Amino acid sequence: MKINVEEGFETFTKEIENKFLQVKGTIPKWLSGTLVRNGPSKFHVEKEKYNHLFDGLAMLHKFSFENKKISYTNKFLRGHSFESSLKKGKIVYAEFATIPKFPLGHRIFLNATRHFTDNASVNVTKIGKSHIAMTETPPRLEFDLHTLDTLGPFHYDDKIRGHLTTAHPKFDYHNNQLINYITNFSMKSTYNIYTIKGGSIKRNILSSIPVKRPAYMHSFGMTKNYIILSEFPLFIDPFRLFLTGTPFIDNLFWKPEHGTTFLLIDKNSGKLVGNFKTEPFFAFHHVNAFEEKGNIILDMISYEDPSIIKSMYLDKLRGGNFSIPIPQMKRYCLDLNNNRITSHVLLKNSLEFPRINYRNYSTKSYNYIYGVNPHNSNGFPLRLVKFSINSSSCKYWYKENNLPGEPVFVPRPGSSKEDDGIIFSLVLDTIKQHSYLLILDGISFCEIARAYVPYAIPLGTHGEYFQ
Ligand SMILES: [Fe+2]
Repeated sequence: MKINVEEGFETFTKEIENKFLQVKGTIPKWLSGTLVRNGPSKFHVEKEKYNHLFDGLAMLHKFSFENKKISYTNKFLRGHSFESSLKKGKIVYAEFATIPKFPLGHRIFLNATRHFTDNASVNVTKIGKSHIAMTETPPRLEFDLHTLDTLGPFHYDDKIRGHLTTAHPKFDYHNNQLINYITNFSMKSTYNIYTIKGGSIKRNILSSIPVKRPAYMHSFGMTKNYIILSEFPLFIDPFRLFLTGTPFIDNLFWKPEHGTTFLLIDKNSGKLVGNFKTEPFFAFHHVNAFEEKGNIILDMISYEDPSIIKSMYLDKLRGGNFSIPIPQMKRYCLDLNNNRITSHVLLKNSLEFPRINYRNYSTKSYNYIYGVNPHNSNGFPLRLVKFSINSSSCKYWYKENNLPGEPVFVPRPGSSKEDDGIIFSLVLDTIKQHSYLLILDGISFCEIARAYVPYAIPLGTHGEYFQ
């Protein structure tokens, strides 16, 4: 089946502010927060094109809920990469798979002097009182939650430096802190895990782990007492990256003979307390992790190899004739008593963009995962899925020619059931050429409402609901 997905990867530049959306169905009365979704929206600067889905210039989309009404605002993230590229009429910062057309010496100079892109198109979060947009290079951009105006670079209150980080910080509700890590490339590269106390903007290094071959890790795991870095054998060659001025993607090397190593870090002492080896695989996303009877249980969206990364070049996706690798959701059990590791498949034809009832079940035994799921053999995610670990069963939402984005679960206030809440997904109707915000009931996984956006919004990355 040929899927008409081109619309999902086309440049979209319209911006609107506080437009009340036409709603079909009933918006739950208790919804009173704001959903912000990030994603690339401009895939070229004049005649120069971005190559990969991870490269396009970021746009934020905001859906605010009040008295069962929804208002919508969308704006480009106007950071230095955006402004300087548009001003000069060409791409001026290196992205994941695109480099500016500067002479080699200039590109090497930019790399060496840490001229990172601030095109923060991957995710959003809140640090201290600031709402920020994030990507995997260190610069973060602050935005105003009410207007979506870009406020400028977000500065941490510290001097920590590095080259590569994640757009998936973990909230440690038990200790009221946020945790993330940043890799610093040098002759002696290090993974630097840091904490930020609630309300603060100062990072404190919890652990600095020397690493010979730094791995590309899009996210990490966390339990009540441990941080888990999953070192897939997809290694970065930082010196090649610096000295050749080539795109980041071309400096990732798959070395399956090294297997995957789980590094276990004690969250209290910061000490590296475990080192578990298993078969080679690659993942973008950890789903959840928790401790149980002397084991660390680690759930991940696992690919056989990193070919998923190269399957997301825009020319391949726009051509429609693609094959996207389908992951498995796997559970890894790290036995702390004898340093053994076992694994088994939880879901074969698995999901991506995994979300859970994070506020109440992160670091705890849990049952439900929500995600996007392929509906045919080419692997493109065409439907939403709710997967129950306990019953090993799935519920789906699917509508032909409608492309759903990441499902964001919001628990109903006062709820005691894990799936009592709603799920948001921004869906692109490729026939009617507009998008709509879909709202599903968390328990039945049936539609309760949708709000129509008058435009076709490109397929995005991650989002967050701010209360
Ligand atoms: Fe991600």
